[in-house]
Formats: sequence, C-alpha cells, structure tokens
Amino acid sequence: MKMIRSPQRLQKILGKERLRKKTVGFVPTMGALHEGHLSLVKAADRENDITVLSIFVNPSQFGPNEDFSKYPRVLGADKRLLRKVKVDYLFCPSVPAIYPKDHATCVAVGAELAEVLCGKFRPGHFQGVATVVAKLLNIVAPSRLYLGAKDYQQATVIRRLVNDLNMNVRVRVMPTVREKDGLAMSSRNRYLNPEERRRALALSHALFELRRCLLKKKGTLASLRTQTVRKLEKAVDRVQYFEIVDPATLAPLKKIQRKMAVLTACFVGKTRLIDNVIISFP
Ligand code: PAJ
Repeated sequence: MKMIRSPQRLQKILGKERLRKKTVGFVPTMGALHEGHLSLVKAADRENDITVLSIFVNPSQFGPNEDFSKYPRVLGADKRLLRKVKVDYLFCPSVPAIYPKDHATCVAVGAELAEVLCGKFRPGHFQGVATVVAKLLNIVAPSRLYLGAKDYQQATVIRRLVNDLNMNVRVRVMPTVREKDGLAMSSRNRYLNPEERRRALALSHALFELRRCLLKKKGTLASLRTQTVRKLEKAVDRVQYFEIVDPATLAPLKKIQRKMAVLTACFVGKTRLIDNVIISFP
C-alpha cells in the first residue's frame, strides 16, 4: 500500500495505470475505519485491478456545531486495519490541498434529495459531500465508486450527482455491515459509553421490527410508523426523524408500496446515529 498526499501526484500515477488499461475501484472515507469500510475495499478489490482508498475529514460537510474538530483521526490504527485487505493507494490529502485559499466552487444537488431527511437538520451537509466527492472523483477518475447503504441518502445524492454531471463512473452501493447485535457500524459509535451503546441498539431493532410488521401488513403505514417511533423514543434521547420514503425519490409515502426505504436519525446522549432498511415485497 502506497500512501500519497498530493492530489497531482495521485492523478499522475493513476493516469499511467489507466494507460495500462487497469480498472480502478475507489472507496472514499473519512477514516476511523471499521469492517463497514473494509467491506467496500473487498468489493473494490474483487471487481477492479487497482483499489484506491481516501481518508479525508471533509470540513465542508460539517455544520458549525458539529464534530469536525472532534472527529476521530487515527491514521496509525487505520493503516493497521488496512493490512487485512488489499489497498494499492491510500490517499490522505491535507485540507489546503483540497480546499486552497482561493477555492470558490461547490456542487449542489437538488433540494428534493439534499434538503430532506438528514439534509433538513444538517444545512449544507450534502453540498459539502457532493463537492468533495466530485473533486475526489476528478482526482481519482475511477472505473467504479464504492459507497455504503448505511448512508442511504448520501448514496442517493451521489448517484444523482454522477448521473447529472455525466461522470464516467459506476456507482456500487454495498450492504450495511452491522455488529453481531444489529447496530450499524459507524465511526461515531466510538463516542458511545457502554450504557449509550446498549440504547443505540433501539435504532436497528425498531427498523427490523417495522420491516417484519410491514411485510406481514400488520397495520397501516401511518399506524405502524407511530407505534415504532413511540417505542424508539423510550430508548433514545431524541428521534430527529423517522421517515418511510420512496427509495428512489426519497419522497414520503402515505401508503404501503412494493419497495420502501425507512430512514432514521436519533441522538443517543450527544451522539447522532443514523440507520435505515429497505423493504421490498417479493
Ligand atoms: P465515512 O463515514 O467514513 O464513510 C465512508 C463510506 O463507508 C461511505 O460510503 C459509508 O456509507 C460507508 N460505510 C460507513 N459505515 C458503513 C457500514 N456499517 N456498512 C457499510 N458501509 C459503511 O461517508 C463518508 O465517510 C463521507 O461523507 C464521504 C463520502 C467520504 C465524503 O466525505
């Protein structure tokens, strides 16, 4: 694994790899890696000749009261974990390398995707994500981009960005990797104390339980949603949102349909956790 900090240097190296007809799989991350990230690397390695993983804690996607300065930066531990998988290039640019002083361009995906759900509570977040992902895609120019379903809205926003800007990359969204008890793996789980960690289970349990009930059509969409939110509210400190939406458009649903996405964001202590399930009738 070769570590590269300069965008220009990586661009040059990958340009040569492409001339040799090598396919490139790209996994963008913010570090504090876990098995969820590794599952993306494994998929990239299976499907491409070369795998590139980036670690960049992107300031433009954090709000003023969010955890940018506190976000875990553990490059040593990340490199050790990456020994378990095959990464050819580890790209770790500095903030000024990505956002020089005169940086003046940003990418905004439509409000119907970027300003609902998480976007409603994190103004500017998806603009920050879309901007950095567009920049990273221009630097790496991969054949395939690997994203996790754990961040379902993010994957939806990035798919739209790639399609709308005619980017020549295939977007591959891989399943959410969970702890044995069901908690979705997340870099932010390390903020939880043991008592919060126990309560954090309520998110996945609520989503799985709702999926069971919906598949058995054990009530109307609205009544099942209300029941689930009530239960969830007893375990977590705040349910920021809990929505049942169309998986493609993210528009809220009034009635049960063949394919649905259920997404939630909750606070457990001071930690904001997100999770989702996709429900699909056979
Ligand atoms: P980060 O939170 O580090 O996540 C990097 C990638 O790992 C994302 O595509 C995310 O969906 C995926 N991921 C995280 N937890 C996962 C899990 N439990 N199972 C499967 N995949 C998981 O998402 C970001 O960074 C940033 O917003 C980024 C896209 C890098 C732009 O800055």
